[in-house]
Order: sequence, then C-alpha cells, then structure tokens
Amino acid sequence: MILVTGATGHLGKTTVEHLLKNIPGNKIVAFARAENKAQQLKERGIEIRLGNFEDTASLDKAMQGIEKVLLISTIDHQRYQQHKNVVDAAKKAGVKHIAYTGVTLKNVNTSAVKFLMDSHFETEDYIKESGLNYTFLRNSLYAEVIPMYVGENVFEKGIYLPTANGKVAYALRREMGEAAANVLLQNGHENKTYQITGSELYSYQDVANELSSLSGKAINYTDADAATFPDKLKEHGVPELRILIASGFSADIKSGQYEIVSKDLEDLLGRKPITLKESLKEIYSL
Ligand SMILES: NC(=O)c1ccc[n+]([C@@H]2O[C@H](COP(=O)([O-])OP(=O)(O)OC[C@H]3O[C@@H](n4cnc5c(N)ncnc54)[C@H](OP(=O)(O)O)[C@@H]3O)[C@@H](O)[C@H]2O)c1
Repeated sequence: MILVTGATGHLGKTTVEHLLKNIPGNKIVAFARAENKAQQLKERGIEIRLGNFEDTASLDKAMQGIEKVLLISTIDHQRYQQHKNVVDAAKKAGVKHIAYTGVTLKNVNTSAVKFLMDSHFETEDYIKESGLNYTFLRNSLYAEVIPMYVGENVFEKGIYLPTANGKVAYALRREMGEAAANVLLQNGHENKTYQITGSELYSYQDVANELSSLSGKAINYTDADAATFPDKLKEHGVPELRILIASGFSADIKSGQYEIVSKDLEDLLGRKPITLKESLKEIYSL
C-alpha cells in the first residue's frame, strides 16, 4: 500500500492520477485534511485517511499497513515539525520507504529565502537519520508559478521582475507528479536524491519571448530594480508575505540558485520533459 500526503493538493492529485494508471485504487491511500476535498479520490476507490500533520494520533492511524509514503512538503512556517511527525509515524508503523518532495537549490545557505528553504534540507537530514529508505525529489520551480510571478496583466503590461539574466529549468507539476509516482511504483530508487528539473534553463526574457511568440503580442521583459521592487509591489496592494516571497525568489533566480539542469526527470519519465513553450501553451491555453 502506498500513502500519499497532500493528495488533495496540486502535486499530490497528479501523483495519484499517475499511480491509478498503473495500480488499482485499493492499493493507494490518500492522507487528507478535509473529507469534502477527498471525495473524488474516494469515488475512484482510494481509501481516505483523514488527519493533519499536527495530529500525531491521526498519522499513527494513517500509517497502518503502509509500505511506501510520499511526503509532500507543506508551506507552513512550522513545516519541519510537521514533516518530522510524518517521519516518526512512518518509522513507528514499519513503513519501508519514504519519498520526500523538497527543492533543488545551488546553496541554501546563500538563499534569499533561507528561512523558508532550510526546512527542506532539515527534513531530508531527519529522514536520513531515521534509517528509513528514502528518495529525495528535489523539485525545481513549477512552470505553473510563472503566471504568479509575471502577473495577470502580462499580455498588456509585459514582465517586470528583478531577475536579470538568472535562469530556471522549470518543469510542469504533472510531470513532476508522474516522476514521483514512478519512484513509488518502481524498485531501485532507494536512498537516491534526484534533481527534478526541466531539460533547459530559461530566463524571464525567454519567458517573454515565448509568450510573445505564442500570443502574437509583443511582450517585453524589464529587469526591475531589486531595491525598489518591494515598494512597487506594496503600492499595488500586494500583501507583505507575497512581497517577501516574490522578492526573495527573484533574488535567488537572479543569483543563479536555480541554474541546475539534470537528466533525472527525463530518466524517471522515460522521455524528455516538455519545453517551456509547450508548458506555457498548456498553462495559458494558447
Ligand atoms: N517547486 C515549486 O515551484 C513550488 C511552488 C509552490 C509550492 N511548492 C512546495 O511544494 C508543495 C506541493 O505543491 P502543491 O502545488 O501541491 O501545493 P498545494 O496544492 O498547496 O498542496 C499542499 C498539500 O499539503 C496539504 N497540507 C498542508 N498542510 C498540511 C497539514 N498540516 N497536514 C496535512 N496536510 C497538509 C494540503 O492539504 P489541503 O488539500 O487540505 O489544503 C495540500 O493537499 C507545497 O506545499 C510547497 O511546499 C513548490
């Protein structure tokens, strides 16, 4: 039996979809916080175990009879403790293998969002110390986050971000989910760390060029001034936390933190991941 946490979230849902293409629903357990969100999974024959990462009793129950767990990271400030609770429950219940979705970064210690990213690597260390077999899926940025960064008026106003020529090997979440499902379905991924990235690096100038070519509109990229960028967002009513995240991730993109290209995703999929252009076509329905 395979248990997927975050099964009612974006990455979890797509992972379960790929699992269902290969194994029956009764071999999959979804750990979910809200029964109503899990209804569709239930209708497909998947057992729902309700709970919360803060509720250790619910985790203990959920882990019964489970061989493999996919722990999908949360975005909570307390996520290290939440993840620890999942690992502890898995170990206690005799789970054989845990896969964890973290992040691919060149150096977390110099990250502008170290306060957020540290917990990914702390979780990995904790899993290693637990003695459980593990697979670390260090995910690059989702292509789906691009619309959040470029804003909803991108086709009218262009892209304004302090990322200069910094590049990212974006990957589509559904392909990352497929890769995660394959890790759970296949043998041979024990104690491996994978960099889940697209096949090519792209700057926001590249994003602007691809969007121009797909939409037929001229979309410009402007390298925003990093020092005044947060104030500009504030003027537009962007909430404080969003500003911190947008500025921090932009700084990391600019400094090359995400300039990592690996063949791991391609190997796990058995084909090349889709390109930025194809991803944008899909995301924007162009
Ligand atoms: N690589 C990237 O570009 C990128 C971008 C954004 C986030 N991320 C990271 O990747 C993770 C997965 O991405 P996603 O798009 O699938 O995010 P998502 O849709 O927000 O899914 C997160 C899942 O975690 C569950 N969850 C949150 N807190 C929980 C708790 N205390 N106990 C039990 N379950 C809990 C949520 O449950 P509910 O369904 O009940 O809400 C949800 O199913 C994120 O959580 C974040 O750590 C990566």
